[in-house]
Amino acid sequence: MSRHQLWRVMAFFSVAIAVYAVVLLFVPSVGAPFLADRLATVPIALLTHVAASAVALATGPFQFHTGLRTAGPVRHRWLGRLYLLGVLVGGLSGLRLALVSEGGLVAHTGFGLLAVCWLVSSALAWDRVRRGDLDGHRAWMVRSYAMTFAAVTLRIYLPLGLAAGLPFGVIYPAVSWLCWVGNLLVAEHVFVTPLRHRAV
Ligand code: HEM
Repeated sequence: MSRHQLWRVMAFFSVAIAVYAVVLLFVPSVGAPFLADRLATVPIALLTHVAASAVALATGPFQFHTGLRTAGPVRHRWLGRLYLLGVLVGGLSGLRLALVSEGGLVAHTGFGLLAVCWLVSSALAWDRVRRGDLDGHRAWMVRSYAMTFAAVTLRIYLPLGLAAGLPFGVIYPAVSWLCWVGNLLVAEHVFVTPLRHRAV
């Protein structure tokens, strides 16, 4: 698959899950049954998380498209600020949700660490661009978006695991780690390592 085809697949899944998130804001019953409990106990964290993270998920792919980036550097900066705001609000509220998620301690830790790494990698990406380090900016944004994309991989692995007959109580904690660690490994190998070789 060419890089452009890969980008199209990534953009398609990102926008599709962002649309699902927006629908969930208006029709909470389309989500998992445990969401009713979250809505009752941590409604602000849940709603701000879903809305802000959807913004990060939907804007991210357009930042990586070389043609769009070079054609509109001002748009790239404003979309980048919107992405970072989405990560900041989505990450802090995601951290709150991690404390009460399904899946017990393993999932609390998996989601909690994801939230912290998401916030830190995005802050580093912002810091690098402010210092004029464009390769560093790109590398940290790739890592940041690999974690944003966990919203997609989670929703692929979970139904696959359930279809394979694994109980929810087993698959959910496992997926809370797999959904982002796998993305980070692939992103590092496919996108960040070539950048490092180019810089030498
Ligand atoms: C990358 C950092 C993220 C973390 C740490 C995180 C964490 C969480 C946690 C802990 C929950 C509650 C799950 C439970 O109660 O068992 C949740 C739910 C949810 N998150 Fe995230 N999330 C992240 C990114 C995203 C992104 C980028 C989206 C974009 C759409 C998103 C959309 C949702 C939605 C829609 C729910 C409701 C549950 C569902 O429908 O499956 N999250 N998130």
